[in-house]
Amino acid sequence: MIVTAKIEEVRAVRKQDKDENWGFVPTMGYLHEGHLSLVRRAREENGRVAVSIYVNPTQFAPTEDLASYPRDLERDLALLEAENVDLVFTPSDEMMYPPDFQTAVLLSHVTKPLEGAARPTHFAGVATVVAKLFNIVQPDRAYFGQKDAQQTVVLRQMVRDLNFNLELIVCPIVREPDGLAMSSRNKYLNPDERKAALVLSRALQWARIAFEEGERDANTLRRIMTDLIIAEPLARLAYVSAAHPETLVELERIEDKALLSMAVFIGKTRLIDNLIIA
Ligand code: PAF
Repeated sequence: MIVTAKIEEVRAVRKQDKDENWGFVPTMGYLHEGHLSLVRRAREENGRVAVSIYVNPTQFAPTEDLASYPRDLERDLALLEAENVDLVFTPSDEMMYPPDFQTAVLLSHVTKPLEGAARPTHFAGVATVVAKLFNIVQPDRAYFGQKDAQQTVVLRQMVRDLNFNLELIVCPIVREPDGLAMSSRNKYLNPDERKAALVLSRALQWARIAFEEGERDANTLRRIMTDLIIAEPLARLAYVSAAHPETLVELERIEDKALLSMAVFIGKTRLIDNLIIA
């Protein structure tokens, strides 16, 4: 496994193995089973697999957890080695954003609601860094988790709009046995908060059951999720949504598919989760 912080080295490896298909998994490190499921899928579908580990500062607002974001490079590299990853790119901030850096990738509609409403600069940071990573690694396929549902919608739009020559593949959410969606931020939860955090997946399941029993009114589904979350004393609701899975516009009735999603503070930790119903 080649581990490098140098863009030229990534390009050299990529050039040397140009006849192979490259699968790419961009990450911010502190890897868990969710990330590893992306790596395994990339391993199955490609001759070569590249992973980036980079905590991208431009997707964090000044009030967010950039400084405390969990990091453990040594452990991450051991996990990736065990998955037979070929190349790990670990750039520095100076390399990604030199002092004269001036460019941003901005998307309009799909970045505005949900996460974008609370974190107005977040998706510019994500789209810009992912565009840079795509240009550096030049993958044939790139793998993202459904857990960050809006991120996948934003990046799919960016790939289409900017004609990136790659296939974007979205993989299912990986959950703990009790239903909590895996996230590097789960590490922040104390034991009581960890229990309370189950309210996210439970709210999604309650809405799913109502849908399966025939409920098609999106407001009713939003209310079912809201009522459950506000009944949990350690939870503070940021939003719940029942939106079109591609446009992210809130629905009135669910005729076909809907993306149910939410952000909830458990103590100080902001968690997100989602489910597509169809
Ligand atoms: O999903 C993430 O971990 C990040 O948003 C990504 C895609 C690696 C960009 O920094």
